[in-house]
Amino acid sequence: MRRIAIINQKGGSGKTTTVVNVGAAIAEAGYKVLLIDLDPQAHTTIHLGFEPFKLEKSIYDVLVNEVPIDEIIMETHQKNLFLIPAKIELASAEIEMVNTIGREIVLRESLKKSKNSYQYIFIDCPPSLGLLTLNALTTASEVIIPIQAEFFALEGLTKLVQTIQLVAERINPATHISGVLITMYDKRKNICKEVAEKVRKHFGKKVFKTKIRENVKLAEAPSFGQTIFEFASNSHGSEDYKKLAKEIINGGRNEKKRTWKRST
Ligand SMILES: Nc1ncnc2c1ncn2[C@@H]1O[C@H](COP(=O)(O)OP(=O)(O)O)[C@@H](O)[C@H]1O
Ligand SMILES: [Mg+2]
Repeated sequence: MRRIAIINQKGGSGKTTTVVNVGAAIAEAGYKVLLIDLDPQAHTTIHLGFEPFKLEKSIYDVLVNEVPIDEIIMETHQKNLFLIPAKIELASAEIEMVNTIGREIVLRESLKKSKNSYQYIFIDCPPSLGLLTLNALTTASEVIIPIQAEFFALEGLTKLVQTIQLVAERINPATHISGVLITMYDKRKNICKEVAEKVRKHFGKKVFKTKIRENVKLAEAPSFGQTIFEFASNSHGSEDYKKLAKEIINGGRNEKKRTWKRST
């Protein structure tokens, strides 16, 4: 099982778009996939066609009210793709959890008790490095950082990398950055090329070969409650996210190979 948190404390970097579409592509490839919406804005939930205010329970109840996670997991309209939804009430969870013992690991512990198993879990994070993101980091075995190809893209990355390292040292040694993804890329813009180059210089081989191109269909699909594959299957967005899904699946194989080599 791979547990992948998609994190960047900058809003609008492509986290939700990536979680939904890469999750859908991997589910389409035949793997069982769970998406966890850990953002009070509930964009992943909405993107998949649900209306958060109509939901009875959400991830909030798992974190604050100790409701078993299996009671919250929902099927989506796509085969193999499951969702733990969010609602706006999640916004107060960080404050309400202040006195919870082990508040950084509530999500991890509740997943451990689940009777369901998934080959891939993707966690969509809020645009901050607070307690919700910390719960994602202690649960994850990998982190993917999406970076929008724009001028301020690299600001804040040092803080993010330090936070991941701290969690790895203190709570969850398994967690590490497994991929960095350039999103909203437009090859006609010099700034995009410059940012992509800087990111590659900094993160080296961790940067995915696939870049997600700027594509208006990706921005339109959420308002129809559809993934890019349902909404515009012939678009650049569809092509790019399928390519990325393959890279993530193959990357996992390479990681296993490397571990095997190390231990022999
Ligand atoms: N490759 C892309 N091309 C065009 N628009 C995109 C692309 N990726 C995301 N968007 C749009 O940009 C906005 C921010 O993306 P989103 O995935 O919601 O970021 P985050 O979850 O990091 O805040 C959304 O309106 C989304 O639809
Ligand atoms: Mg989002």
